[in-house]
Amino acid sequence: MTPPAIAFEDVAVCYESPGPGVLEGVSLVVGHRERVALVGRNGSGKTTLLKAAVGLVPHRGLIHVGGRRLDRHSLGEIRRQVGFLFNVPEDQLLFPTVEEDVAFSLLRRGMPASEALIRAREVLADLGVASLAEAPVHHLSHGEKQRVALAGVLVTGPELLLLDEPSASLDPVGRRSLALLLGRLDTAILLATHDLEFARTVCSRFLVLDGGRVCLDTEDPGRVARWWAERMPADHRGPI
Ligand SMILES: Nc1ncnc2c1ncn2[C@@H]1O[C@H](COP(=O)(O)OP(=O)(O)OP(=O)(O)O)[C@@H](O)[C@H]1O
Ligand SMILES: [Mg+2]
Repeated sequence: MTPPAIAFEDVAVCYESPGPGVLEGVSLVVGHRERVALVGRNGSGKTTLLKAAVGLVPHRGLIHVGGRRLDRHSLGEIRRQVGFLFNVPEDQLLFPTVEEDVAFSLLRRGMPASEALIRAREVLADLGVASLAEAPVHHLSHGEKQRVALAGVLVTGPELLLLDEPSASLDPVGRRSLALLLGRLDTAILLATHDLEFARTVCSRFLVLDGGRVCLDTEDPGRVARWWAERMPADHRGPI
């Protein structure tokens, strides 16, 4: 049987000790090719959970990626298997031009340069930014950087995508195109977002993090909308 894409078992993260943990006993499983949205207030630990999954923050508890336990021996291989999109694209754009950046992880895997550049341009085209292939990365707008960073993540065809607010800087057209593109991928996704409409297009399951734990795990995005509505200030009248 194919193992889950990722499984967290009783995972806790505490940045300052002594102090309250940001995550306390998070257990959740994202199945093979399952697409799951992670929502919750600012500071509820969404980014922290994604980072823990690739060993970027120390955690207690168990994390398995593709059936393999995350530890210092497996970390390198797990990072190669997982596509991680940072919230801040500048954190992952390292090369002078867009196509060099996107092709990098293919070159590192031994793909010949000419083939890697062709593949990089294909993925840039899928994301609607083919015209930026030769552009200097530092000239790009924030939304363009976000798409280029995502191209660098998708180019290797990872089996699991961990995406931290991928739609945050996109215009409505870009957001819709990206949601449709992610929705068509044959890969597991754990997507941290505040954009419920985007999440509805991409994902079939919705988790809410609150108080360091998963407080809601549902296939009904309406329940998530109601969860938010209940937390709105008393004078709020309109739809969220
Ligand atoms: N390196 C760090 N050191 C200390 N505290 C941290 C660190 N990183 C995050 N935190 C704290 O952990 C908590 C959770 O942060 P995290 O970024 O995971 O939240 P989030 O749910 O992703 O929030 P947002 O919706 O704003 O992106 C916050 O209170 C944050 O200040
Ligand atoms: Mg975050």
